[in-house]
Amino acid sequence: MKVLVTGGAGFIGTNFVQRTRQTRPDWELTVVDALTYAGSLENLAPVADQIEFVHGNIADGDLVDRLVANADAVVHFAAESHNDNSLDDPWPFMESNIIGTFRLLEAARKHNVRIHHISTDEVYGDLELDDPSRFTEQTPLNPSSPYSASKASADLLVRAWIRSFGLQATLSNCSNNYGPYQHVEKFIPRQITGILQGIKPKLYGKGANVRDWIHVDDHNDAVVTILEKGRVGETYLIGADGEQDNRQIVALLLELMGKPADWFDLVSDRPGHDMRYAIDSSKLRAETGWSPQYQDIRAGLTQTIQWYRDHESWWAPAKERTEQTYLRLGR
Ligand code: NAD
Ligand code: TYD
Repeated sequence: MKVLVTGGAGFIGTNFVQRTRQTRPDWELTVVDALTYAGSLENLAPVADQIEFVHGNIADGDLVDRLVANADAVVHFAAESHNDNSLDDPWPFMESNIIGTFRLLEAARKHNVRIHHISTDEVYGDLELDDPSRFTEQTPLNPSSPYSASKASADLLVRAWIRSFGLQATLSNCSNNYGPYQHVEKFIPRQITGILQGIKPKLYGKGANVRDWIHVDDHNDAVVTILEKGRVGETYLIGADGEQDNRQIVALLLELMGKPADWFDLVSDRPGHDMRYAIDSSKLRAETGWSPQYQDIRAGLTQTIQWYRDHESWWAPAKERTEQTYLRLGR
């Protein structure tokens, strides 16, 4: 099978490409990536001679048409992915996440190619801390930020192309990922790399917001499972029952990295900050048999901390630039 992976030089895409080289060696992988601040060719160096790489923007309709024409399936990761950036400058999110997805859908329709669209649980808005419910595939879209609104827009386009044109598509909405190769702007790598540099973790607001953490390998295994066993036209929620509030994550990182429990700063909150995300992934589990392999966040974080310890030259340049942005944003 020839698989076109969009955004394959970013965090989740890099892990997907490296992992599927091992688990699906017969797949021929082509990666298209614009190599924004979030993507790096260095990430794909371990598999460089086993894949084709195309440097390009998915908003370029002609390029996308040529690439999709030559594929059996598309796995669509490419997106602007950070909420804080979307609050600072929303335009790149509109171009990559909405127009880019539109270009892919049109090409997939024209060439009758199967596409799997990667999305986020953030399209559903947020839950109260004391609400016992979790998101399901039936939860109405109710995004809060320019990022999540752009992802919800893309999801709606995919659903419309399925219904109106019979597009061979599936969607998945996953919770917060952690693991190797995640950009230092995101919560967990920001705190790990900060601690390694002697900087205290920074908690937005009171640190009470809850995220439902999943290891990136579990997310990617679920994506492969949906490609192989998912029903075309369907949406699947991906989650690993990993709810933790931000204070709990920081407490665990401090413990695992040998720092005192009170060694963190509370900083100004993110505008519109979603309170809680929680995923009910029973549809995916029941239909496909998928289940997460990383059940223990302590073990997953221990592995992730070690990766950042071992890869300082990978993250140090981005760290400096990212912290300058956070300084300007007051966070
Ligand atoms: P990332 O920011 O680390 O990587 C995104 C990649 O896409 C980068 O390599 C970037 O260069 C590329 N890209 C961006 N715009 C592009 C364009 N116009 N054309 C071509 N390439 C472009 O993001 P990530 O965390 O790996 O997220 C990947 C996908 O997974 C996104 O669609 C995101 O919404 C979704 N998702 C992420 C999480 C998470 O916790 N990180 C959770 C659920 C869903
Ligand atoms: P983030 O990694 O940006 O993911 P998302 O906003 O998509 O969930 O943030 C995860 C949580 O951590 C979110 O509640 C915001 C919070 N956060 C902090 O408390 N401090 C930080 O330095 C960052 C980057 C995030």
